Amino acid sequence: MTHKTLALAAVAAVALSACATYTPPTEQETMAVIKSSFKDRGQARVDRLNQTDLQKLCTATGNNPPKDVRERLEKAARATVRYPADGKWLGDFKQGERIAQTGVGMQWSDKEGAPAGGNCYACHQLSRAEIAYGNIGPSLNAYGKLRGYTDEVKKYTWAKIWNTHSFNACSSMPRFGDAGILTEEQIRHVMALLLDPASPVNK
Ligand code: HEC
Repeated sequence: MTHKTLALAAVAAVALSACATYTPPTEQETMAVIKSSFKDRGQARVDRLNQTDLQKLCTATGNNPPKDVRERLEKAARATVRYPADGKWLGDFKQGERIAQTGVGMQWSDKEGAPAGGNCYACHQLSRAEIAYGNIGPSLNAYGKLRGYTDEVKKYTWAKIWNTHSFNACSSMPRFGDAGILTEEQIRHVMALLLDPASPVNK
């Protein structure tokens, strides 16, 4: 071995022994650090860090609970969905586009109770005219055109927006209806953005 390779081997050995002695923090230790780093401010309160039972199960299983558990969680989530009482699924797609574009709401600096946005573009492509969008979620461009404008599709889409866990237990999409982020009226507008044949999403 040359001096150089010897030195490299020594560095590697030190790095390896460092790995071997590292013990990751426990769940409780992690939560203690997180909770001590935040404080209540306006409507953004530390109790938001408390996970629901579903979230705890998803965390504990690396977002991959056993099939029977997943199905039980999704069924329970579907039972929370409140469908429009008057059977009217669609509102105004223009207002839907604004809601999808808006990310305000629920932050400490927002007025408590003021209407929040859906921030859909943060994770999805929707109308083609908007070129700034995130891709954590699938593209929703041409959503209605591709799936059809049937009541079945409307019911599925409403439930997905109301409580995303209805069809994917460990989804990372917000629970817009269930968590009180959007009102029923706002969800109708977003529904129209996805499912009105005249919406720019379907053009
Ligand atoms: C933080 C990211 C995030 C935000 C914000 C978000 N979504 Fe999603 N959405 C996802 C992800 C990820 C999926 C796919 C995985 C899943 O089903 O959970 C998804 C799936 C969907 C689906 C199902 C698509 C399909 O192929 O069946 C619809 C419909 C949807 N989102 C609509 C919306 C609407 C409307 C908004 C805004 C009101 C929104 N999403 C905001 C992350 C997000």
